[in-house]
Amino acid sequence: MLLRYLLILAIRSTDRAGAEESRSIMPKNNPKGDVKKRLLEAARRAMKNAYAPYSKFKVGAAVLTTTGEIFLGCNIENSSYGMTNCAERTAIFSAVAQRGPEIEIKAVAVVNNHHVKCSPCGACRQVIYEFGPRATVYFRGAKGMKQLLITSLLPEGFRLKRKNA
Ligand code: THU
Repeated sequence: MLLRYLLILAIRSTDRAGAEESRSIMPKNNPKGDVKKRLLEAARRAMKNAYAPYSKFKVGAAVLTTTGEIFLGCNIENSSYGMTNCAERTAIFSAVAQRGPEIEIKAVAVVNNHHVKCSPCGACRQVIYEFGPRATVYFRGAKGMKQLLITSLLPEGFRLKRKNA
């Protein structure tokens, strides 16, 4: 019996290889605070993979979808500075690449290795809005961690096509 259980666990974890963190984090008795904590922890883990040799400013992001899965992203810089991709967009693009264009973002957490204020940049706000017009964003503000709706960070977000709105 135990052996069978272990075998099932092993198969399930192999299935998920490559789809890091894509497990449900919202069991019925999981209060909102706990989800926020786990999302921030996931963002911190993602930050370890950042490629930031130019700015030395490592950023990690974790995106929670409405299905309860978490997708990770880090910033990836380039010798041609403008080609840099922020952590938030990396996480969102990874979610879409793995689960398809129907994903809806419920929340995004962002952390950085300097523990300084860091809200998503304008480009990332627009991308968050595209896939999560109702998303909550957790980030470090001047006085510690903050939480705001994407619509507060990006009023009048641009939308070409009605999606999830
Ligand atoms: N960066 C992010 O990844 N996310 C943010 O929210 C702000 C900035 C990255 C881009 C660049 O690699 C470095 O931080 C410095 O701007």
